[in-house]
Amino acid sequence: MERQSPIIHYTHPATDLVRTARKRNTTYIGNIMEQYLASLPSKNLEPLWNRMNDMVPPLPKPMAKPHMWKYSTSLPDLLTAARLVPEEQADRRVLMLVNPSIPPPHTTDTIYGGLQIVNPGESPPAHRHIAFACRFIIDGEGFTAIEGKKMSLKRGDLIVTPTWHWHDHGNEGEKPFVFLDMLNLPLFMHARVHFTEGYSETRYPSTPCDESDWCHPWDPVEKDLRSQIGDHAIYRYKTRDGKQLSTSIGMQAERISPGKFSSASQTSSSFIYHCYEGEGYTTIDTPSGERYTFDWVTKDTFAVPAWSKIQHFNASDENEAFLLAVNDDPFLDLLGLRHP
Ligand SMILES: [Fe+2]
Repeated sequence: MERQSPIIHYTHPATDLVRTARKRNTTYIGNIMEQYLASLPSKNLEPLWNRMNDMVPPLPKPMAKPHMWKYSTSLPDLLTAARLVPEEQADRRVLMLVNPSIPPPHTTDTIYGGLQIVNPGESPPAHRHIAFACRFIIDGEGFTAIEGKKMSLKRGDLIVTPTWHWHDHGNEGEKPFVFLDMLNLPLFMHARVHFTEGYSETRYPSTPCDESDWCHPWDPVEKDLRSQIGDHAIYRYKTRDGKQLSTSIGMQAERISPGKFSSASQTSSSFIYHCYEGEGYTTIDTPSGERYTFDWVTKDTFAVPAWSKIQHFNASDENEAFLLAVNDDPFLDLLGLRHP
């Protein structure tokens, strides 16, 4: 029988010395780094290399989560607010649509939404502010007066309040006047330069005005959407000279044919969607890989964070579905923040 030689692991003594030196050096550098990092906060310094993905992420990373507010759930609370909050505070008698992952005023990362109610006979105090506002009428009839132009509003109408324009609202009907407020308030969490001023009287003097660049009645919007060919149509609200409604937030309306669906889309914009009329559902795939499905009916509202893949489905085989959405397109375009 052949005798096998034993396997001998031989290490040159010099190699051991190198390994030990390297280990000591690594430990030494580790200790130095630890001390260095610990010394930085007291000097208001922080290393970027540890937070590169947060500061300069490879993909959009919205803080907002998709969320839906059912009107059937919100309305009773809104009616309670209408009883509890007096007329003098009716300009702030609003239930904010609070995103589950960011504190108010965030409904998305860049857009604020709220539900406001004005009781019959009320006229909340006139005021003006730097924030730009759009209001979409959900229920009832009333008016908004802007810089002396008093515009009648009904369900489906959109009214724009430009920055620093005196305005007030009122309900001259017999039912509660409810609307969706949409403002650029989250932007002022970064640019802390907001001003608000109350008018010296309750009402700012105004006279009736039939047509204005600030008022966008629903009927022409629906007519345009119905005239477009295809199962999914989009109407983008513009000023009479073809510009976006503001430099921060824009508005769009969409139609989906009975039993049909929109093509899937994904943009840097975030949205607050509101169902003007119809029933259906929307799938939302977020950049972090979560999927949400929201079943909506008339008057429901939902938030869509940036860079989410969205697709709308009309669940009715008979009726068109109409959605309204506020987006942050103008803000992104103005600052050049879109992916090329
Ligand atoms: Fe206001």
